[in-house]
Amino acid sequence: MTTRRHFLHTAAAGAACLAARDIVSSPLSAQTAESRVEVLLGEPIGRIAPEIYGHFVEHLGGVVYDGIWVGEKSKVPNIGGLRKELIDALAKIKPGVIRWPGGCFADQYDWRDGIGPREKRPKRTNFWVDAAEWPKAARRTGPERFDPNEFGTVEFARFAKLTGAQPYFAANVRSLPAQEFWRWVEYCNAPAGSATLAERRAADGERDPLDVRFWGVGNESWGCGGNFLPEDYATEYRRYSAWLPSYGTRLSLVGSGPNGDNLEWTRRFFKKAAEGGVLRGMWGWALHNYSWNVSGGRTHEWAQGKGDALRFDSEQYYELLREASGMEPLIQAHWSAMGESDPRHEVKLVVDEWGAWYAPGTEPFPEALLGQQSTMRDAVLAGLTLDIFNRHADKVALAAIAQLVNCLQSPFLAHEDKFCLTPTYHVFAMYAAHQGAQSVRSVFTAPEVKYSRNAQPATLPGLAGSASLNGKQLTLTVTNPSLDQPREAQIAIRGGAAQSIRAVTLAASDVHAHNSFEAPGAVEPKAEALSARGSVVLHRFPPASVTKLEITLG
Ligand code: AHR
Repeated sequence: MTTRRHFLHTAAAGAACLAARDIVSSPLSAQTAESRVEVLLGEPIGRIAPEIYGHFVEHLGGVVYDGIWVGEKSKVPNIGGLRKELIDALAKIKPGVIRWPGGCFADQYDWRDGIGPREKRPKRTNFWVDAAEWPKAARRTGPERFDPNEFGTVEFARFAKLTGAQPYFAANVRSLPAQEFWRWVEYCNAPAGSATLAERRAADGERDPLDVRFWGVGNESWGCGGNFLPEDYATEYRRYSAWLPSYGTRLSLVGSGPNGDNLEWTRRFFKKAAEGGVLRGMWGWALHNYSWNVSGGRTHEWAQGKGDALRFDSEQYYELLREASGMEPLIQAHWSAMGESDPRHEVKLVVDEWGAWYAPGTEPFPEALLGQQSTMRDAVLAGLTLDIFNRHADKVALAAIAQLVNCLQSPFLAHEDKFCLTPTYHVFAMYAAHQGAQSVRSVFTAPEVKYSRNAQPATLPGLAGSASLNGKQLTLTVTNPSLDQPREAQIAIRGGAAQSIRAVTLAASDVHAHNSFEAPGAVEPKAEALSARGSVVLHRFPPASVTKLEITLG
């Protein structure tokens, strides 16, 4: 096993990508592999909703101003003020939905501040103005702290449309009356030439309805969204969700669900909501779960109980992945708690905030509050998590990684004219092939990864992944979390045979490797056509890697 001293570094320089000789795939001859992957084509789980591949945009630090909105007069190439490079790169990974405007910001936001002529919009104090995590060098009065509202409803809707994503709005339940939710829906969706607010929208440049289907009724209503008790939130939910105008589109309303493993929030809300008949009109229940890398109390005081994005040892590496793997039992536990009051499971799970959340210190620039670097370790976390969602395609209807750019586990970093894709972006690009496909059952058998946690033995599954079928196209995605062991696996396709296989592999010789403005290509996927054919093939998965096998069935 890698020693801690050898392993711990800041990984300032990007590492070289995996050499082609490390990726080996062959037809099964007499060899016996230590690991097995069985893909059961005859055991469908459910359609993988493209909305599972969603993103989250909050008015927080450098997400909106600088990250997305550069303004029409900027020298940074833009489409109507929106950063063009970001739009182009995001469109390529097919974002199913983008959630906006928060997060905690949503329950303080007055949507009316973000409509009308831009130069007349008010400047407002941002929810995050006093956050303890602001880097000292961050400016005191910039748009991150005092929002000029240049980026409002139509600007966001245009951004979503340009990337091919559906907009998903979060309404303010803590500090606006229910009627304002109603009016926001009217502004967005009323037919052209109908209500006064539809005329306002036309004057703002969008004559046709924005057709916003997804609406969150508050955010984290157990915390920054109002500190409600679950029963009280159920009552508020009923008031806010009742009799909303549909304009011919059935709205998909999402309730503010639990923080991680808080099953009590789910149970008590569902019980109360079922009594009031509220569940009938509810589409989704939002679970939020972050991986903090709190590992054995070894974090420093400055880390506020979280790990570091770049400085981590093997124990912290494995612990982060263990935390992320906890998404699966969370989905199962909340699903079963929801079923106690909703036995037909009319309401689906929405995981609209997930990802790694580290201590301050690796922000790409001072205004990027909660900004952090994203290494190859985060790419493995992303693969693990998306595979869990795929395996539970019958339960999870929508998900959003936090957050799109310059904040937490971002697929992008962007500042002024600088831009780069993180390893997490490449995982989304690889996994886009699953969108809309039928998830099929897969069984992974591999020697466990053994490591030590607080000097006690701990383990992680040796391989994990998911499979989906779209016509003759089988997509198999696999993560190998081991830091030092490649896994040779026998892949058996039950009910079909591979005619051709293309492998795309994301790995690095040092798991701390990350992309930066200075070295944007340090971590990139490698693709190659494999010679293997048939219903059973061998493939070697390199250490700390994410792999996609695109298998065309004969
Ligand atoms: O994503 C950052 C914050 O995390 C969001 O604003 C909030 O919903 C969650 O606690």
